[in-house]
Amino acid sequence: MFKVNENYAKLPGSYLFATINRKVKEYQAAHPEERIIRLGIGDVTQPLAPVIVDAMKKAADEMGRAETFQGYPDYEGYAFLREAIVAGDYLARGVQIGIDEIFVNDGAKCDSADLGDIFSLKNKIAVCDPVYPVYVDSNALVGRSGDWLKDKGCWSNLVYMPCTAENGFAPEFPEETPDVIYLCFPNNPTGATVTKDRLQEWVDYARKVGALIIFDAAYEAYISEENVPHSIYECEGAKECAIEMRSFSKNAGFTGVRLGFTVVPRDLKLDGVSLNQIWLKHQEIKFNGVSYVVQKAGAAVYTPEGRAQTQAQVNYYMNNAKVIRQGLSDAGYTVSGGVNAPYIWLKTPEGMTSWDFFDKLLETAHVVGTPGSGFGPHGEGYLRLTAFGSYENTVEAIERIKNM
Ligand code: MLT
Repeated sequence: MFKVNENYAKLPGSYLFATINRKVKEYQAAHPEERIIRLGIGDVTQPLAPVIVDAMKKAADEMGRAETFQGYPDYEGYAFLREAIVAGDYLARGVQIGIDEIFVNDGAKCDSADLGDIFSLKNKIAVCDPVYPVYVDSNALVGRSGDWLKDKGCWSNLVYMPCTAENGFAPEFPEETPDVIYLCFPNNPTGATVTKDRLQEWVDYARKVGALIIFDAAYEAYISEENVPHSIYECEGAKECAIEMRSFSKNAGFTGVRLGFTVVPRDLKLDGVSLNQIWLKHQEIKFNGVSYVVQKAGAAVYTPEGRAQTQAQVNYYMNNAKVIRQGLSDAGYTVSGGVNAPYIWLKTPEGMTSWDFFDKLLETAHVVGTPGSGFGPHGEGYLRLTAFGSYENTVEAIERIKNM
């Protein structure tokens, strides 16, 4: 008889951002007169850069002519995009990556979830706490996270690495040795970073215990300080123990276009098996590639005009981050992040829970944030604001919060 995947029933709720979306929609339906400002999900608001739009139009024209029409794309991505990625993101930083180590995808979220397909269900998973919920939920769907412990607000089989004000929101090595470690720097949700030396220690640790690091570098374009690594492959030995995920969503405004890539080095071998070849197989079986038009748009990001136009957008959002940080700390809030990342991590006032403060912000200031507890038990008592709004909305949101 047909049975459903029982792991779905174990999930304590819906995906965090879907829950918030529903709540905000309900509130707006009940209060149509209020102008809600959304600084919740990390979704960009600036239009695509002109050079990217031009590339998409040109690619669409090519698709409309028999001599330049393209059918199914390569599973790994077109060589023109992978070459641009290798040159622009890696060789330019002195990191040697081959184009056969790059796998183009339709945004980092899918691969964050799907990478779990290639390692055993027996693996012990370590995650930062708080953490981007996709890592946790996707492991829960296949049973790797164990059972949801309602009283503790966490999963029984995961190794949680607390990220707190005391450790600068950067995790310590876990007491229990994991097999797979998810790291995201600059961090979502706290906006924290680690130095290159600290990341090197993580690489050394992973190699010592035989663990795989899944490194999410979706926010690397927001790094403003020296000595913060843009790629885990800046660390020695990382190609033997780490997979890296990148996204075009945040650096080039592709949240609605969908493009990202994953780096699986050839040197990454477990029990003599090449993860690069396993991931290629995975993509061939499960994925039919990203459209020509979108990959052409991605390649435009690496042109000199693309670099300049997308950097201007990153600067625009980082100015918002400054407005949020400054405004809230002037008003007496404890804030962090927002220096190398577009997220500001805010301590809730007067010991309020994250969801209570979320409700208060929505009902009193009509501003949407993301409750810290939605990212894990150690997110309780915090709220995340994003810098991806328009400048005008950001300024108004902070004024409203100050006057709350
Ligand atoms: C976030 O707000 O954390 C992310 O933008 C959501 C996502 O990328 O799925």
